[in-house]
Amino acid sequence: MKHKKLNLSLKLDRTNSTPLYLQTYRQLRGMILQGGLPPGYCLPPSRQLARQEGIGRITVMQAYKQLQAEGFVISRPGAGTYVAEDVTRLLSSTVKPPFDPPLSDWGKRVEDQETEGTRGKTRSEIDFGFGRSFSHIFPYDIWRRLLARYLSTDDIMLSRYGSVAGFDPLRKAVAGYLARQRGVICTPEQVVIISGAQQALDILARLLLTTGDEVLVETPGYRDAFTLFQVNGATLVPLSVDDNGFPVEQIPERCRARLIFVTPSHQFPRGGMLSLPRRLALLEWSQQHDAFIIEDDYDSELRYDGRPLSALQGLDDSGHVIYLGTFSKVLFPALRLGYIVLPPPLTSPFVSAKALVDRGAPTLTQAAVADFIDEGHFERHLRHLRKAYGERRQALLLALETYVQGRVFYSSVPAGLHVMLYLHPSCPEAEIVRQAAAGGVGVYAGAPFHLQKPAPPSILLGFSGLDAAQITEGVKRLATVIPEI
Ligand SMILES: Cc1ncc(COP(=O)(O)O)c(C=O)c1O
Repeated sequence: MKHKKLNLSLKLDRTNSTPLYLQTYRQLRGMILQGGLPPGYCLPPSRQLARQEGIGRITVMQAYKQLQAEGFVISRPGAGTYVAEDVTRLLSSTVKPPFDPPLSDWGKRVEDQETEGTRGKTRSEIDFGFGRSFSHIFPYDIWRRLLARYLSTDDIMLSRYGSVAGFDPLRKAVAGYLARQRGVICTPEQVVIISGAQQALDILARLLLTTGDEVLVETPGYRDAFTLFQVNGATLVPLSVDDNGFPVEQIPERCRARLIFVTPSHQFPRGGMLSLPRRLALLEWSQQHDAFIIEDDYDSELRYDGRPLSALQGLDDSGHVIYLGTFSKVLFPALRLGYIVLPPPLTSPFVSAKALVDRGAPTLTQAAVADFIDEGHFERHLRHLRKAYGERRQALLLALETYVQGRVFYSSVPAGLHVMLYLHPSCPEAEIVRQAAAGGVGVYAGAPFHLQKPAPPSILLGFSGLDAAQITEGVKRLATVIPEI
């Protein structure tokens, strides 16, 4: 092999925390990839390069060894170290156009959507953002103690994969809690612990929908569910909700929906609640049409005028209701834990799909949540939340009465962590959001939650991240940009 004469010099930085051998290796590798050291080039003997760069010979030998292990160079005993002949020049001197990754059809549909990951986030001074938890209320001391309980290094919990369907004590705890508080009828085996409700919707869409299938949804409604169903090829059939929730009687005669996605206990985001006659009619429709109902019970624990309403699932004796709950609102959203109660025939396919998607939710946090429920902290925490959030909701309603009465309409159901304000039909929603932001108040456009076009002008106000004084001040400033009618 010919020894080509090239001026090989390195730029080593002794103040850098990266070891010198790694710097040497990386720079030589870069030169090889860029063609600076062509195939067949004989690297200088380690002693020579070490002397030239003022570094130890071992350092150079370590770098050569790493290059050899990765196939960039070949070492011939007695003959030297050569750049491998088959190393292709991955980077040529000509500028390549940026790589535009070809996406699958699913990927292209996702790319066309605005999702949580791509939504712009600017935080206003007073931000009525939805989905925040008020961190002061969370019992950190108890949570820390429960997590620490499971943090011993030799615990089998940490050294093995957990159960895909969920940590058994948590499945039992959730089944018990749902029976006590939500009137859900199920065995622990029907409960699967999920990484948030969003994951369950994704798995259900993939398991139950075929391209072109119809899905009945509420409008306004939960837009991240809309998006999921759509990227999975579904056609949405939206029905406008009223104070009594989803208008079952308006389901078109020809509708053959495979899924119905509803929020019966607290309609999202408008407010209101599915009436008993409609609950019964919906169950009947699903039975007659072999459709599943997904009951998204995302915040039903947060009811401020007494006991939360029982779940629709408890009325279903035919296995058509899939019940969905999340810890995002009542513990904290970054926990990424929720639960689904499946009709028995769906449990096995759901768990198999979950095994493929993520092998199960993290065991450590599941164990802590199980104890949190079993030791009574959860239900105590819910009582604190109801009090604290109930007071904030009151502050919001009082401020609305004081500053914008007659200019907005909202549901009176005392529940949840947000209020949807409907504006006069002539109000320019986007302009109001913009002007409020200019005054330091973050409120959110209602249009993305509505499938009816044009959407009635509305804005969403989440109050769970603000205290009463901020809420009052925020509404006072908001009132200055909502026109008198
Ligand atoms: C109506 C509704 N359903 C479900 C969820 C899903 O919650 P997660 O995926 O955090 O469990 C949310 C979150 O904000 C929601 O607003």
